[in-house]
Amino acid sequence: MRQDVYLTGITTTGTPHIGNYVGAIRPGIEASKDLETRHFYFLADYHSLAKNEDPDKISRSTLEIAAAWLALGLDTEHAFFYRQSDIPEILELTWILHGVTAKGLMNRAHSYKASVQTNVDSGNRDADKGITMALYSYPVLMAADILMFKSTKVPVGQDQKQHVEMARDIAQRFNHHYGEVFVLPEAVIGENTAVLKGLDGRKMSKSYGNTIPLFAEEKRLRKLIMKIKTNSLEPGEPKDPSDSTLFDIYQAFAEPEETAEIKRQYAAGIAWGEMKQLLFECINRSIKPARAEYTRLIAHPEIVEARLLAGAVRAREIAVPYLAEIRRAIGIRKLG
Ligand code: TRP
Repeated sequence: MRQDVYLTGITTTGTPHIGNYVGAIRPGIEASKDLETRHFYFLADYHSLAKNEDPDKISRSTLEIAAAWLALGLDTEHAFFYRQSDIPEILELTWILHGVTAKGLMNRAHSYKASVQTNVDSGNRDADKGITMALYSYPVLMAADILMFKSTKVPVGQDQKQHVEMARDIAQRFNHHYGEVFVLPEAVIGENTAVLKGLDGRKMSKSYGNTIPLFAEEKRLRKLIMKIKTNSLEPGEPKDPSDSTLFDIYQAFAEPEETAEIKRQYAAGIAWGEMKQLLFECINRSIKPARAEYTRLIAHPEIVEARLLAGAVRAREIAVPYLAEIRRAIGIRKLG
């Protein structure tokens, strides 16, 4: 049987927060310890062009995300860890895939449709107003990321599932026309990867501005935790853990016995202030060792840069010969 190849892309638009940690980074690093499978993790920096973000933010975010994965102990000897823009073969493949991508398929992409809908709703005469080709072709670039390394499994959130299915469609169309060149990927939707709630009780997300940065300094971490929304129940009144952001987050960081104990304390009417203090201690305890390393890496971006470049060298050992094969298949060949 063929070895499974897992591939995860991380867009470089933001500071890693505890929701990213619990939902993607921690399970990703855990999974990479399985030496029976291959793992690719990369910073999808070219994807950020779709929205014309601030260049300094993109670069800062790239550093922070890379430093976070490294500080938390990703084994880069086994796992491939690189930056998309260091692998020019991915962009070449993107154009090649454009040749087998139906325009109609892109018309059906949720993210593109959502942008069109926003224009229509706001009464714009041009339904495509402000929509770049990079946004429209986003799924093709993502397909190139996936197909370049013969990924079989792509762990993603529900919102990215359609993109992985599109990559599969595109690969199938290519194989049908040019022969069996691509491996067909499939999305893996994490059932047990927790989705954390943020300060205001909605899903923790940078677009809601309700996040807790993973490596916030102790003082700031405590301050943010004190801001988490609770209800107005008084100390001594029993509280419901199933409807508590504090409890959800606690559970994601604590040992099972600790969580069981907190459940009892909820029933006994723990004060919200006290629960916040316990939550702070619990998160701080699990993040503290990596925080020191993260701070060191942020102060020495050249170390992170070198690690990424080393990852790109390894990844290109696969990408370069494979792209040569793909080019031969489509008729872009040496003439003699
Ligand atoms: N689009 C993904 C996201 O927003 C990031 C991504 C880019 C990706 N390329 C990928 C994810 C390839 C998986 C595979 O989360």
